[in-house]
Amino acid sequence: MSSPLFDQKELADKLINEHKLSLREYAFLIENRTQESSETLREAAVKVRRQIYGDEVYLRGLIEISSYCKNDCLYCGIRKSNRAAERYRLSEEEILSCCREGYALGYRTFVLQGGEDLWFTDERLIPLIEEIKKEFPDCAVTLSLGERSKASYEALFSAGADRYLLRHETADKAHYERLHPSSMSFENRMRCLEELKEIGYQVGCGFMVGSPYQTTETLAEDLKFVETFKPDMCGIGPFVPHRNTPFKDFPQGTAELCCFLLSVLRLISPSLLLPSTTALGTIDPNGREKGILAGANVVMPNLSPTEVRKKYELYDNKICTGEESAQCRDCLERRIRSIGYRVVTSRGDVKK
Ligand code: 5AD
Ligand code: FES
Repeated sequence: MSSPLFDQKELADKLINEHKLSLREYAFLIENRTQESSETLREAAVKVRRQIYGDEVYLRGLIEISSYCKNDCLYCGIRKSNRAAERYRLSEEEILSCCREGYALGYRTFVLQGGEDLWFTDERLIPLIEEIKKEFPDCAVTLSLGERSKASYEALFSAGADRYLLRHETADKAHYERLHPSSMSFENRMRCLEELKEIGYQVGCGFMVGSPYQTTETLAEDLKFVETFKPDMCGIGPFVPHRNTPFKDFPQGTAELCCFLLSVLRLISPSLLLPSTTALGTIDPNGREKGILAGANVVMPNLSPTEVRKKYELYDNKICTGEESAQCRDCLERRIRSIGYRVVTSRGDVKK
């Protein structure tokens, strides 16, 4: 009789106490999860989150500045090969007016996110960032604009950008290569993340849950990567197929696994900024509440102009594309309050 390799209860205790496991242990924890083990981890995650962040949930205003993209990621609805995608880019004035509206709604972090759009050169981004920081000195600026050179990251940081989100997408090189065209490389992705950290940004990485070809082993590598890279933030959300991509027929990820991983990430890194994502809210009407209850502590309501929202369609059926900014702000506040938490209008920096 062979005895089980590991015991779920022991692994949970080890993770709770030591904040790390071996690759094989992470894989076992995921592969053999039960309702009971998920609940143990969820309770422990909520407890450590409460010790650090109390009942506070941070708000980030997400401004989707461009749907042009020179890349061709196989999962993404705004990949360049999607000829059916309607493209737009916001002007500096439009972006500033989103920030003004956001400021009035209580946002103190603006996330400028977009495809890899060559129009947004350093020469255009620097004055924009400077202007936002000048008009809203008490706000943080987060960039999520993909892979750029180190010199560019440095210039944008000098202009005042505080944080940078660049999901690593998967920490397994072979898996990375199945999700991206050969023009993109795993090494460059990792180089960007290292450089962003070196420069002094608060850095966010992240990955999709249930992406095509993902396995328990690749997820274990993602967890190990977060454990060793020590990002300030980590964005995870379910993969959701987009009808005009090569991955249109793959199944979507599950809210259950996504929430399980949110709890594990919270235990690996108790102070991590963990968003409960729009993708999670898209596959489950209560997904974002479930994410908070599993250990997430950030929500990112949409602050983009209503006219462009449908065009920033990374995956099918994305929620919040018909809403006004104020509606999203209020909707999320209500949802968070209904589960016993409180949205706060501070910058929401990572607590170290
Ligand atoms: N499903 C879920 N998430 C997606 N992203 C891109 N396409 C999809 C999709 N089809 C995520 C990627 C990217 C982030 C901005 O959105 O992880 O880094
Ligand atoms: Fe946009 Fe609920 S957050 S409508």
